[in-house]
Amino acid sequence: MYDLGLIGFPIAHSLSPWIHEKFLQRAGLEGNYSMFEISPDQSFEQKIKQLKKRNMNGFNVTVPFKQTIIPFLDQLDLEAEKIGAVNTVVNKNGKWVGYNTDGTGYLRALKSKYPDVFKNKTVNVLILGAGGAARGIYYAMMMDGFKNIDISNRTYTSAYNIAQLKNEETNTAILSLAEAEKKIHTYDVIIQTTSVGMRPDIHQSIIHLDQLKETAIVSDIVYQPIETKFLKDAKLLGANIHYGHTMLLYQAQYAFEIWTNKQLIINDMDEELQQKLKGR
Ligand code: ATR
Repeated sequence: MYDLGLIGFPIAHSLSPWIHEKFLQRAGLEGNYSMFEISPDQSFEQKIKQLKKRNMNGFNVTVPFKQTIIPFLDQLDLEAEKIGAVNTVVNKNGKWVGYNTDGTGYLRALKSKYPDVFKNKTVNVLILGAGGAARGIYYAMMMDGFKNIDISNRTYTSAYNIAQLKNEETNTAILSLAEAEKKIHTYDVIIQTTSVGMRPDIHQSIIHLDQLKETAIVSDIVYQPIETKFLKDAKLLGANIHYGHTMLLYQAQYAFEIWTNKQLIINDMDEELQQKLKGR
């Protein structure tokens, strides 16, 4: 019996129980995925002590505890350490080990739709935004060998901090949003990681894409709505688009692998997840 779950606040609308219960079924494993909502008036430490006693196999961590959880762990995977945030904890012989599956999950999602991108690591990549998600994606892309990854953000310092992760083989320029818009024709892969365009502000877009290359791949990690204005604009300009909800599936796939050592094929879940999201 796999005892899994999620801690965060608020989590009532999370799709993780649906995803992981499907994964358990597919893997032919018995188990449950429970929700542990920790509201701001509760003691995080107390709740964590209760979880330790329960001796779960593993759990996911979401907002606002991705950093708060770190002092309670026995070990940190290198990727989680570099990103400075944990979204997956596994119980290894009574020791809690923290991982971050967001960046790798994003890359797996991109690869499932556009495998050819991974054949040429010198393509020009632009990440828009410099929050936690951007940091995970930057790190995963750099570790995967992408050589040219620029970051554009409203606030320079957050982008600068992400660029500090860079190794010697990576070229990273930091751009203002206006500069990114002007240079947009030079990019092959553009990844939108800010919350701009998210419901209810569905008519907003972080930058104009008018000068976009027709062969570019334009990705948005926002998945409510599934097709953001940013992606709609890119589609109208003839570019290839990549939806954010696929990242949800693949970060969960990697977490499930960490807990169970089972590698699931999940390409066919995309459509079902879209239907679930549309019903919300
Ligand atoms: P997450 O951890 O989910 O990535 P976050 O840490 O809140 O989220 O990051 C949000 C990102 O969206 C940041 O890059 C933020 O820009 P700033 O660093 O300048 O705050 C960006 N962002 C949010 N709202 C924005 C807006 N209206 N215009 C431009 N950028 C915005």
